[in-house]
Amino acid sequence: MNTPYLPNGEHFQVFQGIPINEMSPTMHEIGKSIGTTTFELGLIGYGDPEPVRIHSESVYHPEMCPYFMLACVKPAEDGGDTIVYDGVKAARIITEEQPDLLNVRMVYHAEHYDDTKAVVPLVRNLGGEDSLTFRQKFYLNEVHHLPEGMSEDGFYEYMDSVLDRSVEFHATLQPGEIILINNYKTLHVRTAYTGLRKIIRVRVDDPAYVAI
Ligand SMILES: [Fe+2]
Repeated sequence: MNTPYLPNGEHFQVFQGIPINEMSPTMHEIGKSIGTTTFELGLIGYGDPEPVRIHSESVYHPEMCPYFMLACVKPAEDGGDTIVYDGVKAARIITEEQPDLLNVRMVYHAEHYDDTKAVVPLVRNLGGEDSLTFRQKFYLNEVHHLPEGMSEDGFYEYMDSVLDRSVEFHATLQPGEIILINNYKTLHVRTAYTGLRKIIRVRVDDPAYVAI
């Protein structure tokens, strides 16, 4: 199907100058054109001194959502950047440097949904290309089949170094900006921030919210 979005297989696309009142309908319109269902959540915070972990969206679900969007209503006073990492590049680095890690099986338990978990390889072929899907060190992660001699801490440190080399977008979203992200090909994070921050998040074909 032809779509005007991510036309050449880009991993993300930024839209600017959207009037605040049109951001939500615009996101649903974009979502419906690249998927079937959309699910919206307002993310409002009054500062958070901790960055979130780098992650793939809904990594704890066996079927990750393929796309999601973030729209800025109000940026934080300071920080609250959005960073996107190239999961395809990360998979390539791992394959070249540490091919034994391709045997690793990760278990990602959901933080807010009981009994939801994904048991998946570190690198997955989603959408026709090998890509890293991952969540940084977290007590709800399990790591299995590490290569001999590699500790879990060593594994997470190595993964951090891979992600450091895979950044493909880093910005503070401004009011009127929407970023559309291919979740199969990327990972992302939100940095620490101070002050009120208002973001709208829309997931496309979120497996946790099946359409009725
Ligand atoms: Fe996220």
